[in-house]
Amino acid sequence: MCGIVGVTGNDNAVSILLEGLEKLEYRGYDSAGIYVNDLNGNDYLVKRKGRISNLEAAVTPEVHGSVGIGHTRWATHGVVSVANAHPQYSEDHRFYLVHNGVIENYKELKAKYLSSVTFESQTDTEVVVQLIDRFVQTEGLSTKQAFLKTLSLLEGSSYAFLLMDSTDPETLYVAKNKSPLLIGLGDGCNVVCSDALAMLNVTHDFLELHDGEVVTIKPDSVVIEDAEGNHVERDSFHVSMDAQETDKGTYPYYMLKEIDEQPNVMRNLASLYTQESGRPNIDQDLINTMKQADRIYIVGAGTSYHAGLVGKKLFEKLTHVPTEVHVASEFAYDNPLLSDNPFFIFLSQSGETADSREVLVNVNAHDYKSLTITNVENSTLFREATYTLLLHAGPEISVASTKAYTAQIGVEAILAKALGEAKQQVIAEEFDIRQQLGLVATGMQAIIDEKDMIEDLAKKYFVPTSKAFYIGRGIDQTVSLESALKLKEISYVQAEGFASGELKHGTIALIEEGTPVVGIITQKRTANLTRSNLQETMSRGAQTFTIVRKGLAQDGDTIIIPDVDEMITPLLSVVPAQLIAYYTSLNKGLDVDRPRNLAKSVTVE
Ligand code: F6R
Repeated sequence: MCGIVGVTGNDNAVSILLEGLEKLEYRGYDSAGIYVNDLNGNDYLVKRKGRISNLEAAVTPEVHGSVGIGHTRWATHGVVSVANAHPQYSEDHRFYLVHNGVIENYKELKAKYLSSVTFESQTDTEVVVQLIDRFVQTEGLSTKQAFLKTLSLLEGSSYAFLLMDSTDPETLYVAKNKSPLLIGLGDGCNVVCSDALAMLNVTHDFLELHDGEVVTIKPDSVVIEDAEGNHVERDSFHVSMDAQETDKGTYPYYMLKEIDEQPNVMRNLASLYTQESGRPNIDQDLINTMKQADRIYIVGAGTSYHAGLVGKKLFEKLTHVPTEVHVASEFAYDNPLLSDNPFFIFLSQSGETADSREVLVNVNAHDYKSLTITNVENSTLFREATYTLLLHAGPEISVASTKAYTAQIGVEAILAKALGEAKQQVIAEEFDIRQQLGLVATGMQAIIDEKDMIEDLAKKYFVPTSKAFYIGRGIDQTVSLESALKLKEISYVQAEGFASGELKHGTIALIEEGTPVVGIITQKRTANLTRSNLQETMSRGAQTFTIVRKGLAQDGDTIIIPDVDEMITPLLSVVPAQLIAYYTSLNKGLDVDRPRNLAKSVTVE
């Protein structure tokens, strides 16, 4: 949510910033801007509404420099406009600032300190940059002192700031609280970014920052200080990912590439987290800790929450440990009643979701043990949990999450098997997860090979409609929620996932002539019940089709998914739904990877 880049000490600053912003566009694409300085008295500010491509088109060859900052925005305070785009600057054009986060008390600060200042934007960020300028001008503070004083006034706010002072342009000032930010160590230059992906063409070596730290960066030095002004020594970490991994190659959209990658992700998980014997390969200390827990609490948002719903079924079946799943933004402020020995699992593709992080901060404050399952090494949730398991799914760039969902379920299944075995549950001992993941990989490929047929179904049922339903029972109901989310977020069809038996208790009133209703049917015990519920909608004019596990009865339009253990059918039944969402969006001429109003990494609460 908002992407930040910065560089000092490189004559290609403009292209480094623009390429970095392209890589961070997934974090927001309402507007974008850069400020660069050539250290010879020339500086340039370019801002545009909309995509990075609009900004690139506006950057003329004259715009050059060796130091600069850039930003791609997901609007929070203030409408989408050039004036509200970042960098924001002070009245005298001395200070330039980019920001990711929300300043809770910006109105109070504006009223208290800045009543005489003329504002150009509606943003909370402009208040911060004007405050820094005010403290330098009126109190004779240095830039760093004014920055620190301003930070001390930002109550309960989340921020990642990158500041430039045009009277000392070589220096970048950085601070963060809750929002992510990394420093990259280049050859003769240093960079700043919200996500390492943005700077892999410059460096693979990064420094993480902790909340409350302030960093002063020059081309040949990086000085980190804690909130008390003490110098902090920190080792860098190496990101081995290749810059090419973040390209979409010959694919028209990242989403299709990421759907296609799922069979390999499953094979990867099997080889990384299981042994050839089929036994799980999971940190024994983690399993010992989980063994002490009397209840598991899974926390996540959006698609990750949906993966948690599947996880609950797996943990309860394979380990017999009661498991609750919570929407992170609700858990954070609702204080649910906890058991005596809770264990927390955080599911997050990005590892940066602010809602989930808020819960983790509370969990840590109580010294409870936790595990983060994430795709991003060194992300905030990765660093702050007691244990971590990586998804190893490769970067997920499309805003709509696909391979992270299936990878999260894959990891949960392996973990549940490991814990169940440790608790001597026979069902866990008999569950051959390694073999099952192999079957899943082959099954996913078989579904993906039916793309053309699925595109035809998308055109027939979903392109012409403005509302739709996915229904199912038990584990199929959890997949119906994820299927509906995929459809609505990228094709703007108002879709609902529903427990099929619950439909008749009210929501069936929405069914009209032609409303598409998809039944997900993978569980033998409830197959006929869901079929009856589909019939009920057909009698009221619905057009129905089914996603059915091989071996269960089928009729009418049907997508058959290959046979795997009933516990892990979501790994397959979600794939047709991902493809339906993709092709509906594509055939409606929408931007599949960048749906309106969304951003991939949601770093505000
Ligand atoms: C939907 C989607 C979102 C994310 C949610 C949590 O396709 O991607 O619902 O799942 O914003 O993000 P992470 O998993 O990064 O915590």
